Amino acid sequence: MSTYYYSRISGWGMYAPERVLTNAELAAMVDTSDEWIRSRTGISERRIAAANETTVDMSLPAARAAIARAGITPADLDLIILATSSPDYVCPPASSLLQDRLGAGKIGAFTLVAGCSGFVYGLAVAAQFVQTGMLRHVLVVGAEKVSYAVDWEDRNTNVLFGDGAGAVVVSRSDTPGGLQSMVLGSDGADWDALIVPGIGSAQSITHEGLDRKDHKLKMDGKRVFKFATRAMTDAVVQMVSNAGLSMADIDWLLPHQANDRIIDLALRRLGFPREKTVINLDRYGNTSAASVPLALCEALDDGRIQPGDTLCMIAFGAGLTYAGCVWEWQPERVSEEPILISNWPVPESLQSAAQQVRSGMWRMQVQARAKASDAAMAVMLPLYAFRKGVKKRLGR
Ligand code: UT7
Repeated sequence: MSTYYYSRISGWGMYAPERVLTNAELAAMVDTSDEWIRSRTGISERRIAAANETTVDMSLPAARAAIARAGITPADLDLIILATSSPDYVCPPASSLLQDRLGAGKIGAFTLVAGCSGFVYGLAVAAQFVQTGMLRHVLVVGAEKVSYAVDWEDRNTNVLFGDGAGAVVVSRSDTPGGLQSMVLGSDGADWDALIVPGIGSAQSITHEGLDRKDHKLKMDGKRVFKFATRAMTDAVVQMVSNAGLSMADIDWLLPHQANDRIIDLALRRLGFPREKTVINLDRYGNTSAASVPLALCEALDDGRIQPGDTLCMIAFGAGLTYAGCVWEWQPERVSEEPILISNWPVPESLQSAAQQVRSGMWRMQVQARAKASDAAMAVMLPLYAFRKGVKKRLGR
């Protein structure tokens, strides 16, 4: 028998805050112009979250849409991965807040911090879980309120970023499709090229630090630009050839939406047509971990992506990290078979029943032990309290 399944994106959803911040508005705030921003970045406007709107607030509608589209309920999820570098709090993890707000079960939930590459990292991780057969439905969200860390007086960064959220449900399937290959990478030597230096264990929060705006985003744009063009090209070549394909087999490229010049340079190096590239950074700017899922959702909603299409997603960001996936888009047919463990000494046809019997017995043993220790504690605790009281009265 085989325990190897396939992955599907069975549902998707996105959320963009209402507030649109235009280049003209930025030009009124700092020494910049619509012409400079458009020609150097390709961005015309971006969405900015309301002051009281958090990353989890934005994740929620995107996640709900993805879950509804997958035809499941939050109770059916087996794991939640929330990719973000702008969590509601440094502690607790934003993923737990999302789990609670969604009304999901007491399932695993973790926040994945890999800069703008976070969502694609999460997709690759989710696919491993469903393809091994261990989990059936994994929610992967890329959401950011980058605006909270933007220094609105710094024209080097404030023109680039925006807020938003995109989500997918990755489900187990028994027919081919889904993840074909992936590349996950990090070049920690350039860790300080994109950094918020003053929030975290490296530096205490001080008045001097706040005056220096250490809690705001600092970026060496040129260094990131150079890394991005090289990493994007190398990663795409690697994952496409690992999938046994060539660029001619790719129907849609979904790159991280950071700068149109970065995308353009990568396209020229790869010899890939712009018409087959999903680009929406003119309307959203760089939304970090939300960037690739926002592009994916839009291309799915407007019907550009069709069943049988091969997608290539590629992201890069703080770390400096990069991540890519080649993904075969197939209709959302989800496996309903029970999870089977392959190495049991019973015939394949009996494995499911044997597994249920074994886990049922084990659950009963645990419950019996828990009841026994509860009963022992109910007896022993008053005894301990009595002995302590006696000792105290005797002055010992
Ligand atoms: O998700 C990953 C996140 N980050 C990125 O992907 C960023 C990658 N880097 C970039 O996209 C580009 O480096 C930037 C868009 C950030 C900057 O573009 P650039 O072509 O590398 O500009 P530059 O830094 O070389 O600056 C050129 C000039 C400078 O003036 P001088 O020194 O030539 O007089 C800057 O001061 O443009 C000036 N400048 C601006 N002028 C008007 C920088 N920002 C602005 C601005 N408006 N907003």
